[in-house]
Amino acid sequence: MKLRSLWVAVFAALAFLAAPALAAEDAEHPPAVAWSFEGPFGKYDVNAVQRGFLVYQTVCATCHSLNHLSYRNLGEPGGPYEASWVMNEETGEREIELGAGHGRRVDPNENPYVRAIAAAVMIRDIDRETGEETERAGRPSDRFRNPYRNSAAAAAANGGAIPPDLSVINLARKGGADYIRAILLGYTGEEREGRYVNRYFSGGLIGMPSPLTQAGMVAYEDGTEATIEQMATDVTHFLQWASDPHMAARKEMGLVVMVFLIILAALTYLAYKNVWRDVKH
Ligand code: HEC
Repeated sequence: MKLRSLWVAVFAALAFLAAPALAAEDAEHPPAVAWSFEGPFGKYDVNAVQRGFLVYQTVCATCHSLNHLSYRNLGEPGGPYEASWVMNEETGEREIELGAGHGRRVDPNENPYVRAIAAAVMIRDIDRETGEETERAGRPSDRFRNPYRNSAAAAAANGGAIPPDLSVINLARKGGADYIRAILLGYTGEEREGRYVNRYFSGGLIGMPSPLTQAGMVAYEDGTEATIEQMATDVTHFLQWASDPHMAARKEMGLVVMVFLIILAALTYLAYKNVWRDVKH
């Protein structure tokens, strides 16, 4: 009798452990992509981040905020619109060029690319004189524009589902970048109960209509063909940068620390050998 109750307990425990695995099975496993930013030496592909920003700005920004980012972050070191001063050999004039370059960095607040991006967005503000609500052109120091006034407005506009803030979405979701990209590509075209069938979304029905519906929705400036898959990959790359903009600096520092520790270990070992040189043991 005792033994039997032990078995019951064991089976109950096993069933309990297996439950989350079974529950997760209703969604397909996202396909793995070889992202350039993976691994200890991984880096962002600046062109992909730039293209992904265009996708975000043209398509996703109508519904999703990006609260942790300001426009000037786009022009910071490692950002997609980082720029530097260069000397034009022919005219002898100083010019601004995209990229880290070799010259002095352009202050993100003065960066003409960042200023143009911000200025194209209308930001809600309070008029200092009248105290009334007003709209004005964005500045590099502004946070990315929130498309909705509040969560009630967001839910009302999306059939009750609230589009989550995308600042750290790649880190917040299990499966990370692979999952985010898969969600954008997982639509079957079917609709049920006002929601959309998505193979990778838990439960299978998502409140977001397929955002990337046709190739060429975004005009890429670098000649890359804007297929649906390319746009999904690029916007995911951008969101990865957004959720971890200092990854490059962190990995570099990690490498320096590792090299330092290896040298320190070697020195410590040599010192140990030296100290115990004449001692029999
Ligand atoms: C028409 C509005 C709309 C647009 C445009 C839109 N989304 Fe969404 N998105 C939503 C809504 C609503 C949800 C919440 C869905 C839910 O919880 O069922 C959502 C959810 C998400 C999620 C979270 C999925 C999860 O696991 O919870 C991600 C990631 C996402 N959207 C990315 C994007 C990206 C990237 C774009 C641009 C390519 C985009 N969205 C464009 C409305 C939109």
